[in-house]
Amino acid sequence: MTILHIDSSINGENSVSRVLTRSIVDQLRAADPKADVIVRDLANEPLPHLTLEAFSDSSTVDEFLDADTVVIGAPMYNFTLPSQLKAWIDRVLIAGKTFRYTADGPEGLVGGKRVMVAVSRGGFYDDASALEHVETYLKGAFGFIGITPEFVHADGIAVGPEQREAGIANGLLEIERLAA
Ligand SMILES: Cc1cc2nc3c(=O)[nH]c(=O)nc-3n(C[C@H](O)[C@H](O)[C@H](O)COP(=O)(O)O)c2cc1C
Repeated sequence: MTILHIDSSINGENSVSRVLTRSIVDQLRAADPKADVIVRDLANEPLPHLTLEAFSDSSTVDEFLDADTVVIGAPMYNFTLPSQLKAWIDRVLIAGKTFRYTADGPEGLVGGKRVMVAVSRGGFYDDASALEHVETYLKGAFGFIGITPEFVHADGIAVGPEQREAGIANGLLEIERLAA
């Protein structure tokens, strides 16, 4: 099994989404000690903004397609995902490669892949929150290419120390449930 581990938080060791992605990858490795893990740290080694020229380089989408499981850290910055992670998405949603347009509408071309997303947010959100554009966006974007992602959440991180601990504990509990 190949695991692609993607982080995008700018907060280094203080990052909550990184705690959660590490925990997910640890659990996946415990279940399959021979798994290969490829790490992409989009904060420390950012992809440039998309350009027309970038379409001729398929290395990012090929790495995504080659992975069996993709683990993504998705902190909320200004109500949506970090631009570093958006730059990665821009290289993965490729017409003719991960989706295509047909007479019946768009069709996702990616199947048989597990995508697990760790969402960390300063406040509290649910699917109905008007300003929630992390989980809703990633659900839509991955759904478009044929994948139903699994989400774990750490909310209330910026509210105070107790809420931060409770948010992390909730994320770790959701990870255990996913592994069970
Ligand atoms: C630049 C920046 C923008 C943020 N914007 C929001 C926001 O719009 N809504 C929110 O609830 N929290 C916001 N936060 C708080 C983060 O979502 C929260 O700290 C979360 O833990 C970030 O994930 P990380 O710890 O993995 O970096 C923001 C934090 C930063 C650094």
